[in-house]
Formats: sequence, C-alpha cells, structure tokens
Amino acid sequence: MRHFLTLKDFTKEEILEIIGIGLEIKKDLRAGIYKEQLKNQTLAMIFEKSSTRTRVSFETGMFQLGGHALFLSNRDIHLGRGEPIKDTSRVISSMCDMVMIRTFEHSMIEEFAAYSKVPIINGLTDSYHPVQLLADYMTMVEYGVNENAVVAYIGDGNNMTHSWMILAAKLGFELRIATPKGYEVDASVMAEALKIAKESGAIISVTNDPKKAVAGATIVTTDTWASMGQEDEKEQRIQNFKGFMVDDSMMSLAQKNAKFLHCLPAYREQEVSESVLEGHSEIVFNEAENRLHAQKGLMVWLDRQR
Ligand code: CP
Ligand code: NVA
Repeated sequence: MRHFLTLKDFTKEEILEIIGIGLEIKKDLRAGIYKEQLKNQTLAMIFEKSSTRTRVSFETGMFQLGGHALFLSNRDIHLGRGEPIKDTSRVISSMCDMVMIRTFEHSMIEEFAAYSKVPIINGLTDSYHPVQLLADYMTMVEYGVNENAVVAYIGDGNNMTHSWMILAAKLGFELRIATPKGYEVDASVMAEALKIAKESGAIISVTNDPKKAVAGATIVTTDTWASMGQEDEKEQRIQNFKGFMVDDSMMSLAQKNAKFLHCLPAYREQEVSESVLEGHSEIVFNEAENRLHAQKGLMVWLDRQR
C-alpha cells in the first residue's frame, strides 16, 4: 500500500504513470465512458482549510469512478475538538477505502498515515501541494511544453513552490524561483530537491530578482502572496511583494509564446495582472479542470498498489 504525501516518495516513472492513467480517464470522459474502477469504495475528505477545486474534483472524481466521497470539515468531526489524530485515523481508515486530507502542519498527515490502514492523499499542507502538481504537469504534457521546460516561479516560497521543486527535481527540468527577500523557500526542502536533482539533471535556482528568473522561461507561474493561514499578514505582504506581479511586461521577458500557469484561486493585480490571467485563461482553467482527471488517475493508481 502507498500513500501520496509528497512527490518525494515517487519515481519519475510512477508520476508519469499516474498522469497517463488520468489522461486515459479524461479521454474516456470526453467520449462519455465511465469505468467504475473504484466501485463501492469510499473516500473520506478531511478539510481543515477552505477549498473549491480540491473538494469538487475529489468528490466528483470518486463519484465518476463508481465510489462515494464523504466531506468531513474539522468543524463537524471530533478531530476539530481534540480527538487525537491517531484515533481518528484508525477509526476512519477502518471504514473508508482512502482518505484525502487538507490541513496545516505536514506532520499531521504523516501521523495520520502512520496509523492508517488505507492510502492517505495530501490535499494540501503548509509545506506541500502535490496533487496540484500532478494537474500542472498533465497540463504541460497536453500543451506540449513538458520537454525542455524552463519554469519560472515568481512569488512566495510556499507549499506550491516546494512541490514545484520536487517535481522539477524528479522529472529533470529547469526551475527558477524568484521570491522577495524574507520569503524564500525552506532550506531543508531545497537541500532535498538538489539531492534528487543530481540524479535527474534538473536545474533548480533561487533569486530575489523576478526579471532574472523569467528571462527566456517557457512557463511562468505564481501563487497567492498570502496562503491560507496567513490572512493576518496579507496587507504587509502586498507591500513586501511589490515588483513581483506577473504582468504583461514581466511576461514579455519570457520566451515568445510562453505559457502561464496558476493553481488558483488568483488574486488579480496582486500576484498576477488581470490581463495575464485572462490572456492565458484557456490553459489556466484547463489546468484547474485537470485536477479532476489527474486525481482520478491517482486514486486508481493507489488502489492498484494494495
Ligand atoms: N488549487 C487549489 O487547491 O484550489 P482549492 O483551494 O480551491 O482547492
Ligand atoms: N499557497 C496556497 C495554495 C492554494 C491552493 C495556500 O496554501 O493557500
């Protein structure tokens, strides 16, 4: 049995296999074919933070695969009032077939996984957002921009950045990260990514100069400046991130025809201008839709590993 906590535990081949299953499922869906590959299975979804895409994609995906999904907000289950993680894990995993968790500290899902009898899927922690990167890479494959990619990530050194680092390190592409001073990526994640990158040949670099990172990039991406849990810092961050908005002048430094990706939700005129987001809306909303297909691929893959 395997869990999906970060991309660190997966080989390049496994990541591509999961995305391949997702693309097959997407093709089937377009043709009106629904294969009940997870018939009678239940996915428990524990949300300690808000969500639009993650909830809708997992719940719809499980239904389309012939299963059922349970939405469990921490306001409603005893976990939110202090029932231990290890007890919650043993109870839920005795009744359900998979568990997706969106939470704050990454150690929470590690503890949950340690006590679980069924696969645990990370639906975002403060440190990583690996299911989003499955959808992002699926989108890169569909648009034919996965080979020789030079990805520029402009913004906060956060859970999305960390997952981009691990993906680049595993798959062997170039990732340039530009953050303001004081908002750099976690040094321990960087050390791990560089260690993995040695095997794949990936190039991962960091700078405080967004223009340097974006010059000649084939893909430009960003994320909110204030992640969930950082609401109190929002105004200060808007000040500190001046010069980091991905706007038309920033995009003009990238390669001609460079693609723009965003995990969403997007904050217009903060990390991205209205014109860049709307100018690249086709790919960005396909990226969002790919959450559904990529995660169906992931759930089918995890089920096959038991
Ligand atoms: N990108 C993403 O995870 O979106 P939600 O927060 O809406 O789930
Ligand atoms: N970094 C963002 C991603 C949202 C999908 C957050 O954690 O809020």
